[in-house]
Amino acid sequence: MAQTAMKDSDLRFAKFLVRVNGAVPAMLLGWDAWHHRLGANPVNFAILTTGMSALVFLMLTMLVTPLRKISGLNWIIYFRRTLGLYAFFYACLHFLIFFSLDRSFSVSGTLSEMVKRKYLIVGSTGLLAMVPLAVTSTNGMIKRLGGRRWRALHRLAYVAAGAGVIHYYMQVKADVRQPLAFAAVLVILLGYRLMVFWRRPKPVPTATVAVKER
Ligand code: HEM
Repeated sequence: MAQTAMKDSDLRFAKFLVRVNGAVPAMLLGWDAWHHRLGANPVNFAILTTGMSALVFLMLTMLVTPLRKISGLNWIIYFRRTLGLYAFFYACLHFLIFFSLDRSFSVSGTLSEMVKRKYLIVGSTGLLAMVPLAVTSTNGMIKRLGGRRWRALHRLAYVAAGAGVIHYYMQVKADVRQPLAFAAVLVILLGYRLMVFWRRPKPVPTATVAVKER
């Protein structure tokens, strides 16, 4: 049988590893920027790297629940919040690099660019969808909202991931294989969710209960 429990010290160490590893793309980017090794177009390189990191962390966050249910490894749930916050962090960094270094902090310049390049509107929708997820990620907010409402709100992760994938697909120039691979993963994850929803035990109608009780 699969080992489902984990010692507290092991769990703390695993959480530490996830936190450290999540910061690796940002650290490498910072290191390479410091050493002027971001290539001919450093701003674009930074935008692409942070965008890809945001999408990968979004997908990893959404993989946690199905993986936990299929494998029985319940402790992986403890990584979900960290992975989700990293997704949000990279998406914010992605936008901020674009807004500051590409658009020189110009709000009108950013808006007019959005009108020209529609994929920016789609990406912004994804980023906006992640804001309530990040704001309600604390234990206090989970308690305040209640599990049911919190879970309903957190379905926004699918909106964010969907927008992220479409945004990626729309801005790719020729080879669409990679965005399509992300889309396939997202469809599988969504399909799994729907399957779980349809197979959930249905509430027994009250009339039947009454008949059985007699
Ligand atoms: C959920 C939020 C977002 C995700 C997951 C995301 C993801 C991505 C990905 C995966 C790429 C392509 C990376 C590559 O080719 O290696 C990309 C490119 C890009 N994104 Fe985003 N993005 C998001 C939001 C935004 C926002 C809000 C903006 C700005 C308003 C933005 C601006 C850009 C730009 C300018 C590019 C580069 C396009 C190019 O060089 O052709 N993104 N993004």
